[in-house]
Amino acid sequence: MVQVKSVIAAVKAEAAKVDEYMRADLARLQPETDELLLEVLDYGLLNGGKRVRPLLAVFASRLCGNKDENVYRLGCAFEYLHAATLFHDDIIDNSETRRGKRSVYKQFGTIAAILAGDYLHALAMSTVGRLAGAKGLEIFCNATTGMVDGEFMQLRNATKHNLTELEYYDAIMMKTGLLIAAACEVGAIYGGGTPEQVKALRDYGANLGCAFQIIDDLLDYLGDPAKTGKVVGNDLVEGKVTLPLILAFNCAGERDKKRLAALLGTKDKRSSNVQEVSGIIESVGGFAAARKEAVAAVENAIAALRIFPTHNNYYERNVLEGLAHYVLTRDK
Ligand code: IPE
Ligand code: IPE
Ligand code: MG
Ligand code: MG
Repeated sequence: MVQVKSVIAAVKAEAAKVDEYMRADLARLQPETDELLLEVLDYGLLNGGKRVRPLLAVFASRLCGNKDENVYRLGCAFEYLHAATLFHDDIIDNSETRRGKRSVYKQFGTIAAILAGDYLHALAMSTVGRLAGAKGLEIFCNATTGMVDGEFMQLRNATKHNLTELEYYDAIMMKTGLLIAAACEVGAIYGGGTPEQVKALRDYGANLGCAFQIIDDLLDYLGDPAKTGKVVGNDLVEGKVTLPLILAFNCAGERDKKRLAALLGTKDKRSSNVQEVSGIIESVGGFAAARKEAVAAVENAIAALRIFPTHNNYYERNVLEGLAHYVLTRDK
């Protein structure tokens, strides 16, 4: 079992490197870019994100043998796309807080948030195309189209109390799993990985992405806003049926099921009953059951790395395993 703490220390330096490259990009863009756009980018990018996707791209690439510095630029591209989706996601989800501050659309308005997201998306695509070629760009674009498709699926699923686990997994794989898998896969391609290595890293990323979203959905109920930087209960208020609630419905007796259904009826009801819903989910074991599923997904992610012999890839494999464990223990 890998020491999560030592891995966190190891990746901190790499995350700082990613930030350094993002700052350099913004400085390079400065002379020819609108002042307000730059302000939005600075606000939305350089503000304490965990940098999970760039770290995955960097370490996947290193695991396949890459040693160059340009890999940080590839990592930045994944953070740019991620940030773009967050700018837009907060509009879609009516989320007022992100990374402990007002979300971009609250701070600068919806139009600025949409446009800055589009800008980052294009910046990301041009970077990936330049560094990882047509194949890398195709994977990257498939992640983006899949993510949008996943958001539509989520819209259709909203307030559907009888959502199945399968429908939930389809949606989270598309909205979160694909991008995390793409960061790993494109990183592996950039690093010169063999087809078998590229596939292993994609599988690692897809499983990790699912676990990541399950934990995000748990934190939406149970997290400390001072740490997550997000409002508690937003998913419920917005009518998002996530894994803890699905599993609670599966485990609950008739009385709790009826009570839950009554509490979920309207947005007003949901927003004044977050605590009671959370209490029922807890009492019927919905949170514990969801956590178990995240643990299983992390185990699958780690199993996918087995093809990399530890004698010559010890450090990178260890870090990727550690990142997978970190996903389960994270509180932000
Ligand atoms: C939030 O992602 C969106 C999800 C896919 C759950 P992160 O939890 O990686 O957000 P930051 O980048 O650290 O703020
Ligand atoms: C991730 O889901 C959405 C994206 C693909 C950007 P969430 O909507 O749960 O993410 P948070 O909780 O707002 O960060
Ligand atoms: Mg959201
Ligand atoms: Mg969330």
